[in-house]
Amino acid sequence: MEDNPRFFDLVSDVRAMRRLRPDPVADKLLFKVLNAGVQAPSGMNSQPWSFLVLRQPDDKQWFAARYKAAIESRFGNFKVDDDDTSAMARQGRALLYQANHMQEYPLLLIVCGLRDWPFKVPEAERVGPAPPNYGAVYPCVQNILLGCRAVGLGAALTTMHQVFEDELVEHFEIPDEYGVVVTIPIGYPVGRFGPVQRRPAQEVTWFDRWGNT
Ligand SMILES: Cc1cc2nc3c(=O)[nH]c(=O)nc-3n(C[C@H](O)[C@H](O)[C@H](O)COP(=O)(O)O)c2cc1C
Repeated sequence: MEDNPRFFDLVSDVRAMRRLRPDPVADKLLFKVLNAGVQAPSGMNSQPWSFLVLRQPDDKQWFAARYKAAIESRFGNFKVDDDDTSAMARQGRALLYQANHMQEYPLLLIVCGLRDWPFKVPEAERVGPAPPNYGAVYPCVQNILLGCRAVGLGAALTTMHQVFEDELVEHFEIPDEYGVVVTIPIGYPVGRFGPVQRRPAQEVTWFDRWGNT
């Protein structure tokens, strides 16, 4: 597999890779990817991210069971016809595969963000814990996804942990000042990368006034 494909090829090739092999991922490679993540910009260079990596079978099993239950609670016990080749059906099959095999994947990366009130919320209105600094953590997450692709690892951004976040932070002893932003299963892919299907920028870009092409 080609290492470090060129940037414009790479960005159009980073699909959500939901079918992963159980083969282990070397720590050195993981840190190469995470160090790509932490090159991301953040407000005042605050670097509000932290990573929790689940590798132990019991921990992955704990997470996978709740993830699967969360998918079922959100989407029901859905099935997809084998002969349905639509994009929706292919994504549905991949989601099911991921939910059924998550515990076998070598790494479950939990990306946390330091809690921080957005400027637009006045101090007097700040009740309860602040949300994690999503805006600052997502560029880091995207770098991680690109970094995985660059070294031949598959990864998929997931957010279903939100359904069981309270349990998650308690079980893995994530401190109160952090919130969980995304969970990314990482491993060597079963299938091939990209290409992604996206609307061209020309269709979503206006000049000078909204609607002006
Ligand atoms: C904010 C956000 C939340 C997402 N949540 C999930 C998720 O919970 N589970 C999942 O499998 N994929 C999730 N994804 C991945 C998207 O479903 C995926 O990127 C999109 O459908 C396009 O598919 P592609 O990247 O394979 O082209 C999420 C992506 C984003 C940006």
